[in-house]
Amino acid sequence: MMIKIAKPSDLHDFDVTPESVYLSRRRFMGGVAGLGAGLALSGNVRANADYSDVPEGSPPGWLKEKISATQWKAVTPGDPEKDTLTPFDDASGYNNFYEFGSGKTDPARRAGSLKTEPWSVVVDGEVNKGGRFSLEDIAKPSQFEERIYRLRCVEAWSMVIPWLGIPLAEVIKRAEPTSKANYVRFETLVDPEQMPGQRSSFSLIDWPYVEGLRMDEAMHPLTLLAMGMYGRELPNQNGAPLRLVVPWKYGFKSIKSIVRISLVEEQPVNSWQLIAPDEYGFYANVNPEVDHPRWSQATERRLPNSLFRTNTMDTLMFNGYADDVAELYAGLDLRKHY
Ligand code: MTE
Repeated sequence: MMIKIAKPSDLHDFDVTPESVYLSRRRFMGGVAGLGAGLALSGNVRANADYSDVPEGSPPGWLKEKISATQWKAVTPGDPEKDTLTPFDDASGYNNFYEFGSGKTDPARRAGSLKTEPWSVVVDGEVNKGGRFSLEDIAKPSQFEERIYRLRCVEAWSMVIPWLGIPLAEVIKRAEPTSKANYVRFETLVDPEQMPGQRSSFSLIDWPYVEGLRMDEAMHPLTLLAMGMYGRELPNQNGAPLRLVVPWKYGFKSIKSIVRISLVEEQPVNSWQLIAPDEYGFYANVNPEVDHPRWSQATERRLPNSLFRTNTMDTLMFNGYADDVAELYAGLDLRKHY
């Protein structure tokens, strides 16, 4: 996330991927192109993706089993030419995860110190069946699904990522929310020993990193709790072992390494809203018509890009998911509620 950028040109921190490498990656990933004819949420479409180049992880046994029983469901809507999968190296090498530093390559270099096993998540607040649950208990009753989604960062870069996980709605339903549960609030782990960015006195964030959703957004079928990507478990830098993915919102809503899910009555204040409320709102819906105060949101740089090929494309309303989610915001002034 960028804060206090001197000039708009600073946004163009091009990856220096040589074009030959970039083109061969594109060919490799080309197999998934053409599947994007609408969200097949009710279908059973397996992405024809070849993950043989993706380094193997070492998931615990239960997670390995869940991953191998994945149901291949929704694919990204859109343009088969443009919406090819982002290579794994880019998705796991260019990250925002301030707990490990503010540089894009800091998380991949430093997140090895995060211990993701054992992991537990507290579900509390306005629920009848709260408690502390192991990650396995959270995952066990649900079928893993693969969802290929666009990820659009508020900084105006984007990727297309195949996530593995379960609908957040299933976890919420199991907790039996009370009638006062209007919002869901999420927290990331706080442990400066494991997360060097939390030791920095220059950090803007008042830890823990916090995010929130309105209840209907949290219950929406597109909203995913991811435990894997590219056919394997999540790399630490991508938010292992459990992260949120809300594809129609700017990437900062997709909170990583979640340890607490609270059902609450009042609208939570999320971390970036707390830091710069005139720049980052609660809703953070992708919207090409509402610019960030310091840069345009009309276009995005799809990664990987290079000096030779900037790979710029128009940003779509709700990141291309308007057919699925626009009705959630009927009557809401999206300029005011950015
Ligand atoms: N979650 C936590 N806990 N800390 C963070 O710094 N960064 C957010 C989001 N989730 C962040 C976070 C931002 S700004 C973005 S764009 C996405 O994670 C990036 O996800 P990625 O690195 O997997 O692409």
